[in-house]
Amino acid sequence: MQSTYQHLIDLNDYPVEWWNKIVELGADIYEHPGRYTHACDGKVMATLFYEPSTRTQMSFQAAMIRVGGSIIGFDNPATSSVSKGENLKDTTKIVSNYADLLVIRHPSAGSARVAALSADCPVINAGDGGHLHPTQTLTDMLTLRMEKGRLSGLTVGLCGDLINGRTVHSLCKALSCYPDNHFILISTPELRLPFYIKDIITANGGTYEEMSSLDDAMGKLDVLYMTRIQQERFASREEYLAQKDTYVLTKEKMKHGKSDLIVLHPLPRLDEIEIAVDNDPRAMYFKQAQYGMYVRMALIMTILDQNRPSKLLVGKTHPGVQCQNPACITRTEPGLPHSFRGEGTTLECEYCDERLLLEH
Ligand code: NCD
Repeated sequence: MQSTYQHLIDLNDYPVEWWNKIVELGADIYEHPGRYTHACDGKVMATLFYEPSTRTQMSFQAAMIRVGGSIIGFDNPATSSVSKGENLKDTTKIVSNYADLLVIRHPSAGSARVAALSADCPVINAGDGGHLHPTQTLTDMLTLRMEKGRLSGLTVGLCGDLINGRTVHSLCKALSCYPDNHFILISTPELRLPFYIKDIITANGGTYEEMSSLDDAMGKLDVLYMTRIQQERFASREEYLAQKDTYVLTKEKMKHGKSDLIVLHPLPRLDEIEIAVDNDPRAMYFKQAQYGMYVRMALIMTILDQNRPSKLLVGKTHPGVQCQNPACITRTEPGLPHSFRGEGTTLECEYCDERLLLEH
């Protein structure tokens, strides 16, 4: 299904050149913020946050204000008509008539794509469940551009909750499109990166290896991307507690890192990075959060300036076939076309990317 608007649901809906332009614009705004203070005068951005957020929501809001626009929205669905049971389609449709741009965060995978299907303005995905988080990836890319000077030829260690971490999924999908990037995936067997993301890394020309020890990886890394164990995505508290505190980056471990290593984390940090590490010049996570605002200024300007229609659904529906992922938006949102990519017995849900094996 084609939309008249240009959305950002998944970075991989766009070519690498489009990402590069946003990152370069973000770098220029960072250097010369005064040049952009009226870039979006008179425009209104709505933030619809169905899940908690500090950085993503506030950096989007600050970004819009810093380019001259205004903001509306909610950060607690309990105080909006969502609490009365309004579906995502209706809320999006209405708010998109009040705003020039919608930024949405929602607990279900594929929710941003659903929002875009009904919105009368562009939609930006600010995190859809455990699926994707493209604007965190733009943040990470600007950080790499500024602090490492490149987005290629990097050995990137990703550590922690690789199965549920949407920031990790988006980052692997994007960085694997640049030459000579190698991923070291550090996790317990239960929290390994989903197969479909590993397949994307390989298909894009990237390489990866899986490890269970952070100590073994430390000396090899150009970038260490630490993540929080995503408590809210576990089926039970017991399962979460079994994983919590497996990986903790300490000052001691930092001694084994390269001198030009940078440590990133999308934040919030719980116990996975010892506070003493914050004083290490290689700890870049607070700077990274700062870059996030500049790259979001660049993204808002780009989306409001261009008008390239987005293709939202390219696959097909199959009579009686539904996505089996319990976290997929198609399980809760009424009236959606259950659309899949692929043919034969292997189909991929177009909303959450989960694979479905059909038995014949
Ligand atoms: C991340 C998120 O919400 O996915 N935070 C963020 O956007 N900066 C990571 C997390 O919550 O652990």
